[in-house]
Amino acid sequence: MLSLRLFLLLLAFFLVLRPSFSRGPYALRISCGARSDVHSPPSNTRWHKDFAYTGGIPGNATRPSFISPRLETLRYFPLSEGPENCYNINRVPHGHYSVRIFFGLVAEPSFDNEPLFDVSVEGALIYSMPPGWSTHDDERAFVEAFIFLKDGTASLCFHSTGHGDPAILAIEILQVDNKAYYFGPGYGEGVILRTDRRVSCGSRGPKFGVDYSADRWGGDRFWNSIQTFEESSDRAISTTNSIKQASKSPNFYPEALYETALVSSDSQPDLIYTAEVEPNRNYSIWLHYAEIDPSVTAAGQRIFDILINGDVAFRDVDIVDMAGGINSALVLNTTVALSGRTLTITMHPTKGTHAIINAIEIFELVMAASKTLQDEVRALQKLKSALGLPLRFGWNGDPCVPQQHPWSGVDCQYDSTISKYVIDGLGLDNQGLRGSLPEDISMLHHLQNM
Ligand SMILES: *[C@@H]1O[C@H](CO)[C@@H](O)[C@H](O)[C@H]1NC(C)=O
Ligand SMILES: *[C@@H]1O[C@H](CO)[C@@H](O)[C@H](O)[C@H]1NC(C)=O
Ligand SMILES: *[C@@H]1O[C@H](CO)[C@@H](O)[C@H](O)[C@H]1NC(C)=O
Repeated sequence: MLSLRLFLLLLAFFLVLRPSFSRGPYALRISCGARSDVHSPPSNTRWHKDFAYTGGIPGNATRPSFISPRLETLRYFPLSEGPENCYNINRVPHGHYSVRIFFGLVAEPSFDNEPLFDVSVEGALIYSMPPGWSTHDDERAFVEAFIFLKDGTASLCFHSTGHGDPAILAIEILQVDNKAYYFGPGYGEGVILRTDRRVSCGSRGPKFGVDYSADRWGGDRFWNSIQTFEESSDRAISTTNSIKQASKSPNFYPEALYETALVSSDSQPDLIYTAEVEPNRNYSIWLHYAEIDPSVTAAGQRIFDILINGDVAFRDVDIVDMAGGINSALVLNTTVALSGRTLTITMHPTKGTHAIINAIEIFELVMAASKTLQDEVRALQKLKSALGLPLRFGWNGDPCVPQQHPWSGVDCQYDSTISKYVIDGLGLDNQGLRGSLPEDISMLHHLQNM
C-alpha cells in the first residue's frame, strides 16, 4: 500500500516536472497584419499578432498561401515609406535558427502585379525574388535560411527593387540544433544556408514537418513532393515499415521521409535529378537514402556512384552496408561550387541494375554580413529623428548592409581592423531638411565629409 502511494507520488512528480526536462526549441511565429493571435491546426500552432515592424500598412491577403492556417492578413510597405523596411525582433536567445518569411499578395484591385523585392537577414542579402513566384503553391512562396543569431535580435529587411510594394504574410523564427546541417570545414557563424529546395521523392503532396509529426528541433521544414524525375524512367515506391536512424541529432528528419522513394527502371538504370540554380554560387547538397525496396535484402546487392554535374561525389554507395541494415536512414552531404545554371545529381548503379533515392535538399551558402559599428548606427538614428527625416528615406535596418541597399545619403567604409562598417560621408543636401544637428553626430568618428 505504501509503495503504491510512493509510486503514485513519484509518478505525479515526474508528470509535473517533465516539461522542464524536455524544454522545446525557441519558436516565434508572426502573422503579419493580424490584430490578434491566430491558432492553427494540427498542433494548435500560435501565430503571434503583428509586432516589431518599422513601417508598412496592414492589409488583407488575396490568396492566403498554401500554408495552413490560411493566414488572412499581411503587411505591405509602399515606397512612400522608404525603400528599406524591417522587422526587428528582440530577445531572441543566442542560437541557431531557421528563419522563414512568407510572401503575400495584397487583396486590392490596384495591386494586380506580384511584387519582387530583396530580402536580407541580419544584413546579409539572402534572396532576390524570382518573377512568377506567386503562381506556384510551393517553396517559391517563402524564403528560408539557417542562421546563427548571436546578439539577441533578428533583423529581417525587405528592400524595394522598383517592382511593387513588398508584402509579407508571415514570419517564423524557429530554433534548430547548433550543429544542424553541419557540412564540415567552413561551417559556422560566418555562413548562412538558404534553402533552395527540399524534395521528398515518391511522396504524395507537399508536407510540413508538423504533418509528418516531426521533431520540433527540425524547424518544421517544408518538403515538396516529386513523383518522378523523368516520365516513365523511374517509379515511386513506399513502405509502411518503420525506419531506424531517422529522427536524430542534429537534423531530426521525419521518419516518414524515408518511407517513400524513387527507383530507376530497367530501360534507364541511372536516376537523374536536375534543377535550375543561380550560377556562380556555392551549394550544400544533402541526399537521403533508406533501402525500402523489397528486392534488396542485404549489403552488396545494390551499389551505386553519386555524380554531381558529372563528377563523382560519392563512390560505391551501399545503403544497407552504410546505414547498418535495410529500412535504416543514410544521409550524405557535399558542398559544390556551381558555375552554370544547372545542377544534375546522378545515381549510377555499379552493382545491381537500379538506383534509389528518398529525398534531396539543396542549400545556397551565403556569407553572413559584417554590420555597422553600433555607436554610429545610434548616431544616425538620432540624426533621423532630430532632422525629422521624411518617411521616404527609410533608414531602417543597417545603414551599410546589405551593400546592395545602403541607406540613402550615407557613405560607408569597411574597417577591416574591427570587421565593421563605419560611416565616412553624409550627403543630405537638396533634400529640404531643416533642424539643428544633434550632438550625437560627434559619435560619427569616421566622418570625412558632409
Ligand atoms: C479586410 O477584410 C475584412 C473582412 O474580410 C474587412 O473588414 C477589412 O476592412 C479588410 N481590411 C482592409 C485593409 O481591406
Ligand atoms: C556532412 O559531411 C561532412 C563531410 O563529409 C561530415 O563531416 C559531416 O558530419 C556531415 N554532416 C552530417 C550532419 O552528417
Ligand atoms: C565558394 O567557396 C569558395 C571556397 O570556399 C570561395 O573561395 C568562394 O568565394 C565561394 N564563392 C561564393 C560565390 O560564395
